[in-house]
Amino acid sequence: MSATTVDTPITVAVLDAGGGQETAAIIASERALKLVEIAADPDVLCDQLAKHAASVVLVDVRALASETLVSLVVKLRDATSVVVIGEPADASLLSRAVRAGARSLLVRPYEAEELVSVIREVAERSDTRTPATAGGSAVVTAVYSPKGGAGATTVATALAVALSESHAGRVGIVDLDLRFGGVGIALDLRAQNTIVDVLARPGPLDGAIVDDIFVTHGSGVKVLLAPETLGLADAVSPEAIGRLVQALRPHFDHLVLDLPTSFDDVAMAALRVADHVLLVTTPELPALRDLQRAMTAAPDLRNGRSHVVLNRWPSRAGVPLADVERALGRKVALSLPSEGATVTRALNTGLSLLDRRAGVKSASRFRDLARLVAANGGQQR
Ligand SMILES: Nc1ncnc2c1ncn2[C@@H]1O[C@H](COP(=O)(O)OP(=O)(O)OP(=O)(O)O)[C@@H](O)[C@H]1O
Ligand SMILES: [Mg+2]
Repeated sequence: MSATTVDTPITVAVLDAGGGQETAAIIASERALKLVEIAADPDVLCDQLAKHAASVVLVDVRALASETLVSLVVKLRDATSVVVIGEPADASLLSRAVRAGARSLLVRPYEAEELVSVIREVAERSDTRTPATAGGSAVVTAVYSPKGGAGATTVATALAVALSESHAGRVGIVDLDLRFGGVGIALDLRAQNTIVDVLARPGPLDGAIVDDIFVTHGSGVKVLLAPETLGLADAVSPEAIGRLVQALRPHFDHLVLDLPTSFDDVAMAALRVADHVLLVTTPELPALRDLQRAMTAAPDLRNGRSHVVLNRWPSRAGVPLADVERALGRKVALSLPSEGATVTRALNTGLSLLDRRAGVKSASRFRDLARLVAANGGQQR
């Protein structure tokens, strides 16, 4: 797949306060890669790169202050492809680096092949890359519920429409529920092309491709749908999802990802790459238990970039709000009432929940949610 052959190895530099021997060993074992520099200090690395350029620079974020990391990425991003590496606890630092211009990220533990494939991928992209559109670096919000039917797709689609209507800039939504995606139904859209077609395209994603493959909703939201055919999802790797989201960032101001309920590698890749995660649940024990489990399995879901959205609350027989918050160890950021018939009618008639004609009383809550996301999006994380 790579345009680079073993005759012209990809030059790689490594910044790692811990010595980087493990990374160096992986690079040394791969004929298509050539280690040109290894440094423990950012200034030393930059001095060395001035003498010997590298196509890809691997930056281990350990021991780097957030400001140092961002200014390093900004300094290097036009001349080389930066890949940042860290622990799950470094998630917000890694995502800051990506927003500053790092081309990809890797979270430990990872396999040697993963490192090699990320290096190949960013090097290949830089061979053919076109400059990003001015000012483009979307705030990415993933919407996730480990329990089916909790309302993740409802929240994701209404959030995207609310963001678009609040003039938050270019808004896109990607249906990452690759098997049973419901974004098309929720927004009453169909499309010739889906996420599988985007992933199959070689080369960089320019604006024309985005216009061609995304379908535009009446609110202005650009929508990338999931495939209609079940089996196609199997061909999509988590790495490809991470790369796709990063490649889409320059084309949007806000990107909403609607995730599947499964806690699989694709969902994890999307959760990792997102700036914010909305965790959707309902006030019922099975839903709360599943969310608790997901938060235990992915500790970074408990940090400040995630917010709990409690759907179908209040509920007569449901768990009281205080107990929901106690069970999750988190405050509920926003609740949405159950509006049975109104929501179903809107869905069946193809109206957005924010369309006044749908008569959805909680429409303003989605506008509140859009404000929450837009306000947090501007924060230095
Ligand atoms: N607050 C609400 N009031 C009434 N109906 C709702 C509400 N929230 C969601 N629904 C309905 O519940 C159903 C499931 O919602 P949705 O598809 O958003 O859930 P999901 O978490 O994405 O589920 P899936 O597991 O299928 O991905 C849909 O028919 C939706 O219209
Ligand atoms: Mg869904």
